[in-house]
Amino acid sequence: MPRFPAAFRWGAGTSSYQVEGGVHEGGRGESVWDRFAHTEGTILDASTGDEACDSYHRYAEDVRLLAELGVDVYRFSVAWPRIQPEGTGPAVKAGLDYYDRLLDGLAERGIAAVPTLYHWDLPQALEDQGGWLSRETAYRFAEYAAIMADFFAGRVETVHTLNEPFIHLALGYALGTHAPGRTLGFEALPGAHHQLLGHGLAAAELRARGLRVGLAHNYTPVRAASSAPADIAAAHAYDVLHNRVLTDPLLLGRYADLSFFGLDDAPEYVHPEDLGIIAAGRPDELGVNYYNPTTAAGLDPLASSNSPLSFGLPFELRGVEGAEVTAFGWPIVPDGLREILVTLKDRYGDALPPILVTENGCSTVDAPDPDGVVHDEARIAFLDGHIRALHEAVEAGVDVAGYVVWTLLDNFEWDQGYQQRFGIVRVDFDTFARTPKDSFHWLRALIAEHRTGSAD
Ligand code: BGC
Repeated sequence: MPRFPAAFRWGAGTSSYQVEGGVHEGGRGESVWDRFAHTEGTILDASTGDEACDSYHRYAEDVRLLAELGVDVYRFSVAWPRIQPEGTGPAVKAGLDYYDRLLDGLAERGIAAVPTLYHWDLPQALEDQGGWLSRETAYRFAEYAAIMADFFAGRVETVHTLNEPFIHLALGYALGTHAPGRTLGFEALPGAHHQLLGHGLAAAELRARGLRVGLAHNYTPVRAASSAPADIAAAHAYDVLHNRVLTDPLLLGRYADLSFFGLDDAPEYVHPEDLGIIAAGRPDELGVNYYNPTTAAGLDPLASSNSPLSFGLPFELRGVEGAEVTAFGWPIVPDGLREILVTLKDRYGDALPPILVTENGCSTVDAPDPDGVVHDEARIAFLDGHIRALHEAVEAGVDVAGYVVWTLLDNFEWDQGYQQRFGIVRVDFDTFARTPKDSFHWLRALIAEHRTGSAD
């Protein structure tokens, strides 16, 4: 493995609803994911995150695993309804206490915390008032951010506001496969704007307490299915929608052109002052979550098999021809990580902040052998390929601060329930026993090699 710069940081990540469990403890309120997962027909295996990995009780074991792995950083998220059960008002002490214990545990092991304020578990009470479709939610988010800024000040360096606002919007508000399960298609777009506004307002609260600000987006290199004009136009349009709609305002202070979709460039939900607030919240660190590229194809008006995605997109999205796929069916294209990082650098130039790869990993069908060992060679190959591609991006001059693997633990994989295992540590969901997989040991050795400078 080629060598990364000495200051390069290694990490592992999780998110609150996917691992914590303890949903009725410490005065925690209901989140949209509690409501959604308890609604029949929403989750593939009819499971919920009620217990998840039980990290609410077993966080100390998770911290021990992180220490064994040798990571510099732990990326986790705070469950907003643990802090403000109704999404407003004073903080619940027991909620803060949980994160206090977690921070102490990390500090004892010399692991830097990189908290995210929002990884999709909106207090249900706010959803009942319109959720992210309501502008008010942005102000509630800022109020919550102010509480967390006081809490984190002096204890952590960087706080990320949002995780993947586009995916949250697309799956939660446009398509309805994630909480809160709304199926609004493009009518969901105000929810994107309000998340960005919430980010901008929250960023001001964080900075006022001396904290650096981050935000993690999901990025996908978009390729045209062919050189046919309709395919090229489709690829361009999807690139704008997925990669630029929520990044351009943050980094450039303006919205990308969505006229391909017949959308107004000055919708009334964007108030005159908003873009200034959003741009002032330009992150100090941009989180990049990368899983796979996307191929876009224009719809053939003569073909009967056309199935515009349920997004209501006027074109078709496909996998990548010839690529192997993960257990989830996602194409494995390591070079896509290099490609998207270089694209971001070319696209935004000096406006691009340093990058932290905040998520990268894969689900595999892995099971323990009779000795309880999980030989997840496919995950090792995935990580190896992607880390090499990341190194090429660094060589090409992209400023990358570190790499955070998704994910530490097998966990509640949203609408897939417990059916997709992304962890480098296996979790037995009956006993909550944690068993490091081969990929854990592989990554530990890689990190250790870099520490001693012996990587070649
Ligand atoms: C999300 C994670 C999720 C992962 C794999 C990302 O979009 O941030 O919460 O588990 O993808 O689906």
